[in-house]
Amino acid sequence: MKTEAFLSTYLKQVNGRDQFLFFAPGRVNLMGDHTDYTGGYVLPAAISLGTYLFVRLLPGNELRLTSENLNDQQIISLDNFSKPTGQWTDYPVGVLCELEKQGWEKQGLELIYFGDVPANAGLSSSASIEMVTAFAMNTLFHLEIPLKELALLSQRAENHFVGVHCGIMDQYTSAMGKPDHALLIDCHKVEHKEISAELENYKLVAVNSNVKHALVNSVYNQRVEELRQVKKILNSFFEVPYLGHLTGDDYEWLDKLVESPLLKKRLRHVVNENVRVQYVAELLEQKNYQMIGQLMYDSHESLAFDFEVSCKELDVLVKIASRTDGVVGARMTGAGFGGCTLNLVKAGALSSFQDKIATDYKKETGLDAVIYPLSLNGETKMLSK
Ligand code: GLA
Repeated sequence: MKTEAFLSTYLKQVNGRDQFLFFAPGRVNLMGDHTDYTGGYVLPAAISLGTYLFVRLLPGNELRLTSENLNDQQIISLDNFSKPTGQWTDYPVGVLCELEKQGWEKQGLELIYFGDVPANAGLSSSASIEMVTAFAMNTLFHLEIPLKELALLSQRAENHFVGVHCGIMDQYTSAMGKPDHALLIDCHKVEHKEISAELENYKLVAVNSNVKHALVNSVYNQRVEELRQVKKILNSFFEVPYLGHLTGDDYEWLDKLVESPLLKKRLRHVVNENVRVQYVAELLEQKNYQMIGQLMYDSHESLAFDFEVSCKELDVLVKIASRTDGVVGARMTGAGFGGCTLNLVKAGALSSFQDKIATDYKKETGLDAVIYPLSLNGETKMLSK
């Protein structure tokens, strides 16, 4: 189903009494991966792609959950809904469980989801499902929970119900994103500064490698654990409450306290990536796109070699981009192990970039890449007729 078809089917039914339609965006991360759960910095932006949710209030105590993308419907009793099942429904149900703790009184619901953000691609399809659910319930049941809190409770749903120990970046961006802006988020303080990202004659383009390697969630959790160990080691010498605000100068001597070569690399990525985020935020304000592009390549190297969350296909995509005219930078974006690269491309070079990626990626991997020129104008909202 296409977005227009979904909207034309469901917008017709919206009646403002017991049937409603909502949207929450996915996000792209310009800089700062695997830094959020260290209390560090990230620089994401909400995109126009995301998840739509049609809500119908039902009598009784049944949750009827439908995914138009997966062509799947599950019926869950509200008497017994707080157990994860390992299916897609864990995202919305996890959020409903968190909302119940905040005072939501259970009510029969039909929830129909449709997403145009590609799944498993590093563009936060899951966070947009969580946010659209939290936002819709907050609006319909007048819960008056601030947006930031909705993001935090959606993150808790993902941590405790889905079982991924993710940071706050995705849910926060989906909730707080502002058109044509990136958010420089301090994930320790859970605060952000808006950075204008109009990008003049440049375009951000996501390229989906169309691979998702197995065990992504468990390797993700393993990285979270490795950084916990680094913190523990440093804390045995002196107090380091979180790794995210360490600077390059700190790294020079802190690195000597960590014996394991593997943990040294993990720490190096986090420190350098956090420095890059703050630098890219400044460069965006100065409109220095060439330098941003260079830092994107550096970030990819760091994610590939020090943090080891890239994969062959993402590396191939970045390499192709680096030898294509009009591309100033490329990096993997999101958790990694597949999904998308993000490319900063001169607007005039967009179509030659698309051709080059399509042919060379196919030649080198046998796979088809899917290209998404991104609009940074996603916002969580209620849609009416
Ligand atoms: C996933 C997580 C985020 C973040 C990124 C990597 O998207 O949900 O919290 O850690 O990976 O930067």
